[in-house]
Amino acid sequence: MLWLSILFASILAVNCNSVEESFKFHGVVPDVIPEAPNQLLKVTYNNGLVAKDGVELTPTQVKDQPVVEWTAQPGEYYALIMTDPDAPSRAEPKFREFKHWVVVNIPGNDLSKGDVLAGYVGSGPPKDTGLHRYVFLLYKQPGKLQFDGQRVSNRSRQGRPKFHVAKFAEHHQINELVAGTFYQAQYDDYVPTVHAQLSGN
Ligand SMILES: *[C@@H]1O[C@H](CO)[C@@H](O)[C@H](O)[C@H]1NC(C)=O
Repeated sequence: MLWLSILFASILAVNCNSVEESFKFHGVVPDVIPEAPNQLLKVTYNNGLVAKDGVELTPTQVKDQPVVEWTAQPGEYYALIMTDPDAPSRAEPKFREFKHWVVVNIPGNDLSKGDVLAGYVGSGPPKDTGLHRYVFLLYKQPGKLQFDGQRVSNRSRQGRPKFHVAKFAEHHQINELVAGTFYQAQYDDYVPTVHAQLSGN
């Protein structure tokens, strides 16, 4: 019995080592994208908390923009997107997806020099809606691109519900998904603050 559970635990551990396996295991593939990237995107929140393999973090822990790191190819531009397919719940995702963060035309890996189409908003899963998945995807752009339309601050929910990252990427012909990761979160008492923050313009 013991060796069986050890065997099982190691199979799970091996599976979750790869981004592809954890994206499939938690249904990020196919709910968000048809195919997983094969590289892990390094996303680190305050206090060194790393968002990976669907680990559960709290809305309090993810309230501030994380540090996102990747190895960039020289001269290339990247697009970073964070999205929640489980709006308002994974069981009934009628607003799938909620756009949390979109930065495009990032030169190399200098996130601070990118064009912020939608400012970072942490997790705000409503009460009793269970765990939501928060998915980060990094695409390599075919070059510097033109993005029309209004930029949305971290105080606005405009254009955030019913977003589709796969369609967004296709529309802008950003086909090269380089890396990804995700964490999960459910309601905590910071959520009302997130919702209040989003009531501005
Ligand atoms: C919202 O964005 C502003 C400007 O970038 C920043 O100073 C502020 O800390 C952000 N607020 C939150 C809660 O992320």
